[in-house]
Amino acid sequence: MGILEGKVALVTGAGSGIGRASAVAMAREGARIVVADLTEEGGDETVRLIVAAGGEALFVRTDVTRAADVKAAVASAVSAFGRLDIAHNNAGVLAAAPLLEDGAEAALDLALAVNAKGVMLSMKYEIEQMLRNDGGVIVNTASTMGMVAGFGQWAYVASKHAAVGLTKAVAIEFAQRGIRVNAVCPGAVTTPMTAPLAADPDVREATAAMHPMGRFAAPEEIAAVVVWLASDASSYMTGAIVPVDGGFTAG
Ligand SMILES: NC(=O)c1ccc[n+]([C@@H]2O[C@H](COP(=O)([O-])OP(=O)(O)OC[C@H]3O[C@@H](n4cnc5c(N)ncnc54)[C@H](O)[C@@H]3O)[C@@H](O)[C@H]2O)c1
Repeated sequence: MGILEGKVALVTGAGSGIGRASAVAMAREGARIVVADLTEEGGDETVRLIVAAGGEALFVRTDVTRAADVKAAVASAVSAFGRLDIAHNNAGVLAAAPLLEDGAEAALDLALAVNAKGVMLSMKYEIEQMLRNDGGVIVNTASTMGMVAGFGQWAYVASKHAAVGLTKAVAIEFAQRGIRVNAVCPGAVTTPMTAPLAADPDVREATAAMHPMGRFAAPEEIAAVVVWLASDASSYMTGAIVPVDGGFTAG
């Protein structure tokens, strides 16, 4: 029996990378999954992987910056599976632009819309539903860039610091109402998001070398921590900001 047997989980950004690995890993542990993503192709593929492994999942096209979409994704969990126990709010974008160039304002708008407001809207509608059951568990994907700054990614850094702040504040607000909220802060992970930088061997090498373990993570190495945070094994954890970064933030 899996450690998430009988649970229903919603994963945003589940059509790719870390979100897909998390959705697949939670399904393997017995959870039924709502795969929420902007892109249908990626979402359908994640559902296919889960079903092929004997799990249950459905795709809901969701833009996490739109309240109506997030509400509908939560409603789909309830109509298909009867409840919502777990949410992994993971959808995110890099949104990079040099501060002194024209695209700077648009970069911040996009980063905050997806990485901060998307997390806020997700938690709002997930918690509303979880309070109707007997509570729930939320894991947000922040980043090492939510703990320190780097890579010239000021807009991303600001948005991930916001995701960390949201995690702590909402965790405290609902700590006595059966809701736990924690965040993972991945270091460099091999996903489509980092593919452009990993395509240059020198940049890839330099990025890997910034992590004491000297390598990128596989998405499954982040997903394993998400599953654990979503399970009762972490029952006394809330408001925790958990680096999963090969030692990046230890130095
Ligand atoms: N890859 C890394 O090195 C790394 C490091 C730290 C944190 N993260 C974070 O991990 C999360 C997942 O990133 P990934 O590396 O798997 O990237 P990815 O690009 O492979 O996956 C991101 C997914 O989010 C979806 N998405 C984007 N905007 C969305 C929106 N508005 N609504 C719904 N879905 C949306 C995309 O369609 C995609 O499927 C992000 O929050 C990212 O910031 C990634």
